[in-house]
Amino acid sequence: MRIIIVKDYDEMSREAARIIAHQIRKKPHSVLGLATGSTPLGVYRDLIRMHREEGLDFSKVTTFNLDEYYGLSPQHPQSYSHYMFENFFRHVNINPRNVHIPDGLAKDVRAFCLEYEERIREAGGIDLQLLGIGRDGHIAFNEPGSSLASRTRLVALAEETIKDNARFFRSPEEVPRYAISMGCGTIMEARRILLIASGSAKAYAVAAFIEGPITCQVTASILQMHPDVTVILDEEAASKLNRREYYRHAERLFRQIE
Ligand code: PGA
Repeated sequence: MRIIIVKDYDEMSREAARIIAHQIRKKPHSVLGLATGSTPLGVYRDLIRMHREEGLDFSKVTTFNLDEYYGLSPQHPQSYSHYMFENFFRHVNINPRNVHIPDGLAKDVRAFCLEYEERIREAGGIDLQLLGIGRDGHIAFNEPGSSLASRTRLVALAEETIKDNARFFRSPEEVPRYAISMGCGTIMEARRILLIASGSAKAYAVAAFIEGPITCQVTASILQMHPDVTVILDEEAASKLNRREYYRHAERLFRQIE
C-alpha cells in the first residue's frame, strides 16, 4: 500500500485528480470506478478544471459507479445518479452512453446486479477505482459484516445510515432502506485502487484498515490484500496511524526515484 499524507483536503483532492488524469492520458479508453459522498467532490472539481484548462479528454472514458440507493429514480435529487451528473459528468465531455450507475428502480435486482458485473467485465475491467471510506471503515455500501468476497447486490442500509439520511428527504417514508452496491470482491478486481480520506472523523477507520487485522467488521481492510493501492490522506485523517513517520519517509524516498 502506498500511503501519501498531505496537508489538507484541497491537496488530497489535487493529488487524487492528478493520478486520475495521468491514468486517462496514459490510456484514453480507461475504465474508471467512481464514488459519491462529500470526499470526492474536490477531486471532481479539479478534474473539471483540468478538462477546461488543460483539455483533459473524457470522450473515450468509461465509468462505473460503486452504488445507488434502491427505490430512487435517477432524477431524484438525492440519487447518486443525480449527484454524478450535477457534480461531474455534465461539466466534462464524457459520452453518457459510457456512464454506468446501478439502477435504483431495477425490477429484477438479482438479474440487474449480475448484468452490472457482466458489463464491467465486457468493458475490460476497472483500471482505476476511486474510493472513499465510511467512519465505520466501509467501502461502497459494504457495511460491517459484509462478506469480503461479496459481489454487486442489494444491501440493507444500517439503521444509523437511514437516520443520518433522513434530513435530506421530505418525509421518513421517502428515505431509502436499501442500496445496490458493488461488493468487496468486485472492488478487489480493479487493477488499481485510489482511496481518499479527509478529516478527523475518519482517523480511526483509516488506522483500522491500514494497520489493523483484515476483518469484515472493517470492510476496507480487505485492501491490504490488493497489490496496487494508493491511499491519500490529509493530516487529520492520518492522525491515528502508528507508522505515520515511516509512510512519510517511504514516500520521500519514492519521489526521489520517480
Ligand atoms: P463521505 O462518505 O465521503 O461523505 O464521508 C464516504 C463513504 O461513506 O464512503
